[in-house]
Amino acid sequence: MNTSPTPGRSPIPGSPATPAPAPGLAASDGRSSGSVPSGGAGPELFTPPLPVPPVAGLCTFNQAIQPGMAVEECVAWLKRLHTLFRDLHLILVGRITSEPCFELKTAFSLHAWLCAEQATALRNRVSELREPPLGLDLPPEPGLAWALDELRAAPGTALFCTALYGTVLPTLRQSLVSYCAVSQPLADAPSLRLVRHTLLDLDDMLDFGRRLLLGWEQLAPPPCDPFLASTWTGELQQALSASGLLAGTHRPPGADPSPDSTIASQPSLPAHRFSQTPWQFDPLPRRDARFRDPYNGGVNPEAFLYDPAFLPRDKTLMLFYKRLREIDVPEMMASILVESRDKPWEFLHAMTRQLWDEARHSLMGQVGFVALGIDWTQIPVNFTWSLNLNTQLNAQERHAVLFFIEQGLMPRTGKRFEWEVAQQSGVPLAATFQDFDWADEVLHAQIGRKWYVTDFPDLNHALAYGDRCWSRVMSHWREYLDQGLTQHHNWWPDVYRQACQVWNTPPDPGTLAFRENYSQLRADLKEISSSD
Ligand SMILES: [Fe+2]
Ligand SMILES: [Fe+2]
Repeated sequence: MNTSPTPGRSPIPGSPATPAPAPGLAASDGRSSGSVPSGGAGPELFTPPLPVPPVAGLCTFNQAIQPGMAVEECVAWLKRLHTLFRDLHLILVGRITSEPCFELKTAFSLHAWLCAEQATALRNRVSELREPPLGLDLPPEPGLAWALDELRAAPGTALFCTALYGTVLPTLRQSLVSYCAVSQPLADAPSLRLVRHTLLDLDDMLDFGRRLLLGWEQLAPPPCDPFLASTWTGELQQALSASGLLAGTHRPPGADPSPDSTIASQPSLPAHRFSQTPWQFDPLPRRDARFRDPYNGGVNPEAFLYDPAFLPRDKTLMLFYKRLREIDVPEMMASILVESRDKPWEFLHAMTRQLWDEARHSLMGQVGFVALGIDWTQIPVNFTWSLNLNTQLNAQERHAVLFFIEQGLMPRTGKRFEWEVAQQSGVPLAATFQDFDWADEVLHAQIGRKWYVTDFPDLNHALAYGDRCWSRVMSHWREYLDQGLTQHHNWWPDVYRQACQVWNTPPDPGTLAFRENYSQLRADLKEISSSD
């Protein structure tokens, strides 16, 4: 493999320096091409009629005349990058449900989607390079498999984030930068464009990780054992280098890079530390301490929203609450993805986009309350939907419920209605958020039609199955009360009073008296029949 950095250009910060031009070929402006390296053509043949950069602006002639990696080498490298993004995607998804911290739950959702986007782009590029067979769904090489297994099994959030943002993603970045420096800038221009765009997303992830780890450095005591973190991330680095992720430049002598080789044949791979026991998905949703009273079903926001007696302005509080509560959708969708990991990649990619959208909707709710100056942590954000679906239904049944609910959002009383309410509310941010929320839900309905409805004879059968599955889910409203898990406290009057203070208006007595809860009605206002 040619790993010399000399042929490529250096468009990426941190990449090797651009080589000095060959004599007579320094013409980055396309005019002063100078002497000819060989042959009999005169300089005028190199000079365009107007000063225009050569080689479509991709690089200089000096860079363009250097031979680069063969297609086979490029494909092998791109496949390694693809494997890492593909597996990081599912590792992140697998953490979302049980991660208590709201900010990490939502960041993992975004980063999982960014990894899925990169994996898809790399798959498409590999398919253009004289493949198939694509071999994109094969397990990773031993070194990469070791590192990914260890990362997946990392105990605790702090150790996981330290390894992901401090070791794995920086190594991945180094590999992408090296690819840009090494590959032939003209012949492999489509790959180089892709890799440079990949770096944009990766740098966003790294920036988040840098700020995260910087904040944790100030904590006393540290969030994880520094000695353990340092030792283990050193082992991860060793395994990633042995894997050939860095185009083989750091593969130790004697290591076998082939996918068929066993870990035992990799002389430099350490013993498994955390992954001796295979990782298991934890389907129980967890929330941090700000999310109080998560079994509370004491307020039915849909009943308030569809009641014409209430003002659009006051309904924005219920809209922001409904958005914030949507954090239960990624918690549930993560379980579908983990349990459906053998389905086609296109399914996983589309569903991950939806998962991130739902996390984004939840962030919109949080931001809505922040904009109004209302302490959202006083509002119980219920998690029983994700808890019950994850523990009572299988993956297809969960997808059925999701599709059924989202189809119900499409008629005039659904997302359009919410957008109209927001428009009439006098709260411009609510109108913006509901506008995009509506657009996202239209996309989600399309995803459902492509990846869920096609398992049924027609749409009506698919909807009926979703309705039946949802009806089977026990809400346990009464049991939670009897077990003392919640008092189903009606939180609405306190939040409404706080908002009225912000708006400098007296509370309306009728609005203050709203007390509809989830004891009898579910979110689509249908009566709860099989649950109590
Ligand atoms: Fe949503
Ligand atoms: Fe949705």
